[in-house]
Amino acid sequence: MINEAKLEITPASSLPELQEIKVKYLGKKGLLTAELKTLGNLSPDDRKIRGAALNMIKTELEALFDNKELELKNAALEAKLASESLDVTLPGTAFQTGGFHLLTRIIDDLATIYKGLGYQVVQGQEVETELYNFDALNIPSWHPARDLWDTFWLTDGRVLRTHTSPMQARFMEAFEPPFRIVVPGKTYRFEAVDATHEAMFHQLEGLAVGKNITMSDLKGTLEEMAKGLFGETSKVRFQPSYYPFTEPSADFAVYWENKRTGQAKWLELGGSGMVHPRVFEEVCKLRKDEVYAGQRGFAFGLGIERVAMIKYGVPDIRYFFQNDLRVLKQFRGNLE
Ligand code: DAH
Repeated sequence: MINEAKLEITPASSLPELQEIKVKYLGKKGLLTAELKTLGNLSPDDRKIRGAALNMIKTELEALFDNKELELKNAALEAKLASESLDVTLPGTAFQTGGFHLLTRIIDDLATIYKGLGYQVVQGQEVETELYNFDALNIPSWHPARDLWDTFWLTDGRVLRTHTSPMQARFMEAFEPPFRIVVPGKTYRFEAVDATHEAMFHQLEGLAVGKNITMSDLKGTLEEMAKGLFGETSKVRFQPSYYPFTEPSADFAVYWENKRTGQAKWLELGGSGMVHPRVFEEVCKLRKDEVYAGQRGFAFGLGIERVAMIKYGVPDIRYFFQNDLRVLKQFRGNLE
């Protein structure tokens, strides 16, 4: 009977199933109970022997059932714990993180380069007066050079600054030489918008004023910037140009060996020159003193979008301001 019972107990997979088997052997109408009932028919001697044997079987069966019951209970507990446990190795929910705009990053890079050269970074205002945007920069209203800047005029006669150059006059009005500043910021032109022209874009202005400043200081400075932006093999070349606030004036191009494409080319980046004596005269008028009389200085201005488009192969200036995440996300993280 023990062996039969074992054959049934071992494969049992649930407590109710085990209970059924237990009833089959040990229940009131069970197999063992039936055997015990037959004891009464035996002689006293036989009954003793048979009774002892059946008792041993009973004890053994009970032990078998108890063990199996414990085993099934443990298995059920294990299963419950496993189903309720937390898997701490599962990946978490990623947070959406923002990032700096590509243009902000380039402005930061430029600021870092110029701070390394002893420059202060200052900012101006986007709504300017005609005086600072034009007149103080040697661009009087009757002068044809005004046509160089397609201007947004406000109804009160002020303008959206057409360049960052007004800060030249504002800074010199407020501070004495010598100094070196760069001015990053937004500028506005009344433009027909296309792939390379936007009505709003960014410039970086530079101005260094001091007694002995020469044009080779300008060249060296721009070359440091070029190396910072485009690597140690970069260099700068000048091309004669015209701006009312510089004399002589030179547009500058930067030599870039693109490691990604293996191509090398000259890229026109901006304008520059030696500060025109008339600008110092205008500043003297604004200040009502002669601190800037006889000073020398150089100035330069460049377009930030142009740097970004060249360096990162952005084909259309409008992409910068459409705020399409597919564009913006490409310029998170390491850009090299
Ligand atoms: N302000 C000029 C522009 O927007 C750029 C420029 C040219 C700035 C020459 C300068 C400079 O400071 O010296 O077109």
